[in-house]
Amino acid sequence: MLTCSVQANPIFEQKTDAYALLIDDLCDMATPVFRELAARYFPPLEAALTQRSFAGAAGDCVLITGIDGSRPVAIIIAGLGSMTRPHYDRLEQLRRAIGKIARAAEGAKVTSIAVAFPDEHWFAVDPYTVAKEIALSFDIAVYHFDQYITDPARRYTRDYNLLLCAPELLHKQITLGIDHGLRIAYAVNQARHWCDLPPCVLTPAHMAEQAERIARSHNLTYSIWGKKQINDAGMGGLIAVSQGSAQDPRLVIMEYTSQKKGAPRIALVGKGVTFDSGGLSIKPAARMDEMKDDMAGAAAVISTMELIAHLQPEVHVVGLAPITENLPSGTACKPGDIIQFYNGKTAEIKNTDAEGRLILADALSYAVKHYELDAIINIATLTGSCSAALGPFFCGLMSQHQELADRVLRASRRSGDRAWPLPFHDDYKVAIRSTVADLCNIGNDSYRAGSITAGFFLQAFVGGAVPWVHLDVAGTSFNVPDISYYRPGATGFGVRLFADMLLNWHAAY
Ligand code: BES
Ligand code: MN
Ligand code: ZN
Repeated sequence: MLTCSVQANPIFEQKTDAYALLIDDLCDMATPVFRELAARYFPPLEAALTQRSFAGAAGDCVLITGIDGSRPVAIIIAGLGSMTRPHYDRLEQLRRAIGKIARAAEGAKVTSIAVAFPDEHWFAVDPYTVAKEIALSFDIAVYHFDQYITDPARRYTRDYNLLLCAPELLHKQITLGIDHGLRIAYAVNQARHWCDLPPCVLTPAHMAEQAERIARSHNLTYSIWGKKQINDAGMGGLIAVSQGSAQDPRLVIMEYTSQKKGAPRIALVGKGVTFDSGGLSIKPAARMDEMKDDMAGAAAVISTMELIAHLQPEVHVVGLAPITENLPSGTACKPGDIIQFYNGKTAEIKNTDAEGRLILADALSYAVKHYELDAIINIATLTGSCSAALGPFFCGLMSQHQELADRVLRASRRSGDRAWPLPFHDDYKVAIRSTVADLCNIGNDSYRAGSITAGFFLQAFVGGAVPWVHLDVAGTSFNVPDISYYRPGATGFGVRLFADMLLNWHAAY
């Protein structure tokens, strides 16, 4: 476990295994902390950094072993790059520098680290935010899915002690920041863990049990539907996708109610396909294993519900997750089948691999029918084309409600879970017409734009009355390269964004 606390004395006075310092690209080595650190533990520190061409560039990190009497100590210096860029970029550099420090500590096998609290003006945010991001990013960085690795040499420790050394005046804010950061990190790592679990373990029933455990322990209102209730309610999309599998589907509904009267009401809807083989329209063998992460949206939603039960933001939130496997078999749904959804609309299934929109259609219809909502946000690993268009660093955002879209985009910039809008124009809508039903579950070839046409399929189940944002996280939910605080595997994308959005619903930028 990561413990993180704030200290008034400077880093060099702490009896830790490591001392960490963040430096921008002006690379000022004449600061009192730098000087004293060098004087006490490694006098040629400046020369050593020069020798390794360290100049505070983003992504640079150097670890030097110094001595404290007979005790070896690690001096870790991480670069932040330029501190004159837009402030959300600078904050991201802080996260990645913290990720680098975690990797350096991991490599040197040091577990107690005193970190010099960086000047918050660098990042144009308050000390609360800096502390939050440090605790959060470190805890995300040391996450490792190792429960099936039996060789202890291949496991990494996650037991670290971080001391943030800062003037006493800031301690109150920093303490709160640490608390929030660690809670958000817990929720991110929990979502990652569910994604990383093999699909033989994380079945629809198992995932629903996790939601139930959370709801019970935090007194959230919830209900979890099984196959019979789903069927009786007329959720033909969720039934069709699940019918090829021996595992029954679930619909998870969780509700957090704020004490605050008149708080905005928000629904979060996450795609929960615990394994997507494509069904009868089966996927190629290569990388089919990655489709165990096709429940990343549902994981983000369910884990966020636990987080807000802790943090108690002044918003009402209902979390919905339709959960199923998508497998081929003698009972599987077939290309050519026509199904009817919860809201009465019908669709022709032309490709059983376009299954996410079918289960979300039922969940979205349910949300708009049963709750008076100010906003609906759905999150889904929905299309390969989104991942092709935007790659691993931004998810696709689709919306026709500028105000809500801007709210989500602001939270995405602040939180580091970045989103980018795709053109969501009515011109694309005709692509999902069917000659035999209301809708077709794949877009007509000549329109291409697979992410957008998928978005318009979902829109048919939300209608125009409630502001709605669709996030396609197919590219951002797993195997994101180059970001130091991630590893191969799941990212928990969406949890940081939701946390930020729900805690700062009224933030202006
Ligand atoms: N779960 C996939 C989308 C996906 C692809 C997520 C790659 C993450 C990485 C989704 O169910 C799917 O198969 N979509 C199809 C839709 C097509 C048949 C219209 C796709 O993107 O190919
Ligand atoms: Mn699919
Ligand atoms: Zn899928």
